[in-house]
Amino acid sequence: MAKIEIKNVRKEFGDFVAVRESSFTIEDGEFFMLLGPSGCGKTTTLRMIAGLELPTSGEIYLDGEEISQKPPSQRDIAFVFQMFALYPHLNVRKNLSYPLVSQGMPRAQVKSKVAEVAGILGIEDILNRPVGGLSGGDRQRVALGRAIVRDPKAFMMDEPLGALDAEFREHMAEELRALHDRMNATTVYVTHDQLEAMQMGDKIVVMNNAVVEQFGTPQEIYDKPATMFVADFIGSPSMNFLGFDGKVAEGAGAIELNGQTIGVPRQMQGAAGELVFGVRPEHIGFSDSGGYRGKVLATEYLGTTQIVTLDTPNGELKARLDSAQLATVGETVGLGFEASKVTLFDKASGQALRSELNHEVLAHG
Ligand SMILES: Nc1ncnc2c1ncn2[C@@H]1O[C@H](COP(=O)(O)OP(=O)(O)OP(=O)(O)O)[C@@H](O)[C@H]1O
Ligand SMILES: [Mg+2]
Repeated sequence: MAKIEIKNVRKEFGDFVAVRESSFTIEDGEFFMLLGPSGCGKTTTLRMIAGLELPTSGEIYLDGEEISQKPPSQRDIAFVFQMFALYPHLNVRKNLSYPLVSQGMPRAQVKSKVAEVAGILGIEDILNRPVGGLSGGDRQRVALGRAIVRDPKAFMMDEPLGALDAEFREHMAEELRALHDRMNATTVYVTHDQLEAMQMGDKIVVMNNAVVEQFGTPQEIYDKPATMFVADFIGSPSMNFLGFDGKVAEGAGAIELNGQTIGVPRQMQGAAGELVFGVRPEHIGFSDSGGYRGKVLATEYLGTTQIVTLDTPNGELKARLDSAQLATVGETVGLGFEASKVTLFDKASGQALRSELNHEVLAHG
């Protein structure tokens, strides 16, 4: 059992604020992703959960017990360091035994525990080989094994696949996720790769500039981004943003932008102020009847779909269009927007106007 709660946690290094009041909950058994660009505070957050840094303020709870100021040894949380941090001159068995022997575990018990973990990871046949001569993948498995043998309550992993090439990385990511599903141990995994976070995570926290921008399932974060930052960071190609200063007329269901008409979802009608209209590339389609027109600047053929870059009166847009109708550079095409999938943002705050946020912004208008 390991449920981890982060409540208003803040971390300062001198005058510098590395993590601002952050709150989120990691449920027992979750594969939980900490996602964000370089320097946003991911590693600092992970280190605070493991006890390698102490929060300046706020609380961290492990299964309901406050652990904020406890040393790592009293937390029972394994921090999987750079996966290659092993003893290269020792064999696999000794690398796996080391954490247990140093805890004073009896020899027979160490032996059976190492056998069990080697079985979980599928490395029984390399137990007597020195780590120095192993392939990258086997070393990763041994490094994981070193964390697993101690039976910790939770695993912290800081960009564990960061040093690997793309193909191998994907393979190890799948293996890690499968391993998690067998063991069901709470895992907090840091990455700056949005695709990795979407593919592997049960839940994702998106951080930017020391702040938690959003916390939710991959689907919630993709479909209902809370901020422009999240909308831009998640998804490839990124969401298109079109700015306008005005009001979405009550009941109109559409806005007029530089002479082009774009539908908006019902719950956004009535929103006012300087707004940004966001639409994902896959929510734009060909439309013969549509009044919206764009000139094709570039195309990228991807099989069933094509990524088309378009010049429109509202700036450059990227659309993921059906390949059944191939676009040609230089031609002008009619486009339609899936109104229900459009997101409006308040330009000044970057916050999405929807559900609970919606009411607040409407009240200001
Ligand atoms: N011990 C420290 N002393 C001073 N500043 C620090 C310390 N540790 C981290 N920082 C700063 O805090 C900020 C957040 O660092 P952190 O390592 O948490 O970022 P990150 O999201 O893990 O970035 P990356 O993706 O590059 O690993 C950075 O600006 C970093 O320079
Ligand atoms: Mg880091």
